[in-house]
Amino acid sequence: MKKITIAVDGYSAGGKSTMAKDLAKEIGYVYIDSGAMYRAVTLYCLQHGLLKNEKIDEEGLKAALANNAVRITFHANAATGCPDTFLNETNVENAIRGMEVADHASAVAALGFVRHAMVAAQQAMGREKGVVMDGRDIGTVVFPDAELKIFVTASPEVRARRRFNELTAKGIAASYEEVLTNVRKRDHVDSTREESPLRQAADALILDNSELSPAEQKEWLLARVREAVVR
Ligand code: DC
Repeated sequence: MKKITIAVDGYSAGGKSTMAKDLAKEIGYVYIDSGAMYRAVTLYCLQHGLLKNEKIDEEGLKAALANNAVRITFHANAATGCPDTFLNETNVENAIRGMEVADHASAVAALGFVRHAMVAAQQAMGREKGVVMDGRDIGTVVFPDAELKIFVTASPEVRARRRFNELTAKGIAASYEEVLTNVRKRDHVDSTREESPLRQAADALILDNSELSPAEQKEWLLARVREAVVR
């Protein structure tokens, strides 16, 4: 069957990753979490003193990216069946999910030279098609020609509750209010930044999953994939 590119965009904590991961598994596609790449760059900054007192050492980060000192790769995790994120050959899948990285990731992702480097890497990963990539600018910037574009929405409260439950399940300490504040702050930064702000591609299909069960969502998605593959 024809392989296509599937772009999944939307606000943070909208359930995009879980949805995109499940979909990729179901149809035998490669799943790529582009947000994990911005998170890994943020972790690199925190680990190397490039992010202090809310200020990013842009020159330092630019040099690190130019010197290929920030190598981000994905490797399948046999236990979960999903790709884990690696930064310079170290598995950082858990390290990039904490609140410290989440709090700073929007600022790092707003830098034009960071986006430029990540978009080039994402386009290279998707060259062969057969990928489901999720993020903010996948349907608009990374793969404007994607055969299927989904824009996921849900209220900030619904998203914060989900992220809070996710963190709690992983044993990561956080309060619901803290998570809601973080979700709102990221919505604002992600949609008002100058470089590739979060917006819906004109040809994206909207999926509001506030009221959908995972099974209903999957059914809807598989129907859209079937349509896109025969188009
Ligand atoms: O989806 P996420 O929460 O893991 O994303 C982490 C950060 O990276 C978030 O601030 C949005 C940003 N991001 C982005 O700017 N562009 C993408 N394609 C993916 C994520």
